[in-house]
Amino acid sequence: MESIWKMDLECGEPKPLPDKADVIVIGGGMTGILTAFVLSQQNADVILIDGERIAGGITQNTTAKITSQHGLIYEKLIKGAGKEHAEMYARANQQAIGQYRSMIEQFKIDCDYKELPHYVYSLESEEQIVKEALAAQKLGLPASAVSEVTLPFAVKGAVRFEGQAQFHPLKFIEPLAKKLTIFEQTKIRSVEERRVSTEKGTVSADYVVMAAHYPFVNFPGWYFLRLYQQRSYVLALRHAATLDGMYIDANSSGYSFRNHEDLLLLGGQGHRAGKHPGNCYRHLEEAAAKFYPESSIAAQWSAQDCMSLDGIPYIGAYSRSTPNLLVATGYNKWGMTSSMAAAQILTDRIMGKHNEYAKAFSPHRFHPKLSMAELSSHAKESAVGLSKGYFHRPLRELSSIPNGGAGVIRYQGKRVGAYKNDKGEVFLVSAKCPHLGCELSWNADELTWDCPCHGSRFDYHGNLIGNPAEEGIKLDKLSR
Ligand SMILES: Cc1cc2nc3c(=O)[nH]c(=O)nc-3n(C[C@H](O)[C@H](O)[C@H](O)COP(=O)(O)OP(=O)(O)OC[C@H]3O[C@@H](n4cnc5c(N)ncnc54)[C@H](O)[C@@H]3O)c2cc1C
Ligand code: FES
Repeated sequence: MESIWKMDLECGEPKPLPDKADVIVIGGGMTGILTAFVLSQQNADVILIDGERIAGGITQNTTAKITSQHGLIYEKLIKGAGKEHAEMYARANQQAIGQYRSMIEQFKIDCDYKELPHYVYSLESEEQIVKEALAAQKLGLPASAVSEVTLPFAVKGAVRFEGQAQFHPLKFIEPLAKKLTIFEQTKIRSVEERRVSTEKGTVSADYVVMAAHYPFVNFPGWYFLRLYQQRSYVLALRHAATLDGMYIDANSSGYSFRNHEDLLLLGGQGHRAGKHPGNCYRHLEEAAAKFYPESSIAAQWSAQDCMSLDGIPYIGAYSRSTPNLLVATGYNKWGMTSSMAAAQILTDRIMGKHNEYAKAFSPHRFHPKLSMAELSSHAKESAVGLSKGYFHRPLRELSSIPNGGAGVIRYQGKRVGAYKNDKGEVFLVSAKCPHLGCELSWNADELTWDCPCHGSRFDYHGNLIGNPAEEGIKLDKLSR
């Protein structure tokens, strides 16, 4: 199920990998492309390596709202991280919107860029809205509390941010990628602070930037203890409505809306990756039919993003002991402005310049008031996923799995994931995630095996489709 943004991007003729570069960027999503591009504008000799195709990860499945309004976060940030950090967060993201505008103007990028207000609405509390609008105003953001919206249902209120934007993310990336030195489909074997080994050769550099969405090097860094992934689903609707702006529910179980050309993108059904509640597309279709009875579905897709413990991305040195290995991740589903902020922060660091916002995004900060609830829930999920008890969950009999269904069975003494397609063909994979060994669970909406611990994903043939795992889970296919 492909998103409406998907397109084949050209990145020039394949060349042999060089032995040396100033900077190696790993990953060609929005983060990697922007970081490599901003660095190249400062005359750095930068190469970008992607294990697959560029812009083939989360960036092609986003809803691409460019906004500094990341939910009702500002009151919480002021209380949990302090006014200084909240201000840095607000300004870095607000500045990122301006940087998109300038790049699009300067390089004449035709990417359906449109400036619009962004709203966070609440179905529950007007008071919450008023408090957030005041907090955002205090930080200098263009916020107001409103009661009128163009949504198909009544709300208690909404916080409106002026001068936000939306675009087509891959049309934006295409001309930038053409100016970069990119090596696609280059599998990485190992990453060190100043060296990356791949199946096509080894490159040394002064800096290595990990922009692979989930930082897949476990030690140092320990990102698997402080990141999990959250999945959500999108429908592109024809004959729905043209809204006056972009919208998202303050409640994470609610909906997101934005137009693109004559389509309306309706997002929702968020859940922790690997904890699939079932029928996500069907519930979203029911919502579409209720809100817009005349509408029809033009496309549908789903994707997941990395969530940090305190709601602030991790941008900076990968670990205290690796100052030349850098990282940008944990965007909490707000990767458009966050990746622009990351490109600037990481470029300044590499160029030896002070960046006024870097401190707020440092991967080594700790805000206990913001982090503790997520930390204990993530630790619990990972512990359950890895625990012996989990691996003693009752197994299914292959014969009890209906066509179109899946379950974990015992096969040749191993716990194995079995999927039966509509014709009754059986596809077996290892049920153990190759990242850190959690047991995988079935996502019936996408026909994938997903990991509840850190969100790695595999198709039912066993191919890896989402990191941090670096290899697939293939076994032999059986026909019955
Ligand atoms: C449903 C949904 C809607 C969203 N909507 C919005 C929105 O409206 N606004 C917003 O700001 N944000 C939004 N986001 C978040 C945003 O899309 C992401 O944060 C952002 O796209 C992440 O970009 P990235 O470059 O970090 O990762 P990716 O785009 O995933 O890029 C990572 C790249 O790294 C490569 N890679 C991975 N592993 C390796 C490896 N081992 N070796 C080499 N290469 C590797 C991949 O092939 C890929 O090309 C949304 C997210 C979701 C899930
Ligand atoms: S993604 Fe970490 S154990 Fe599966």
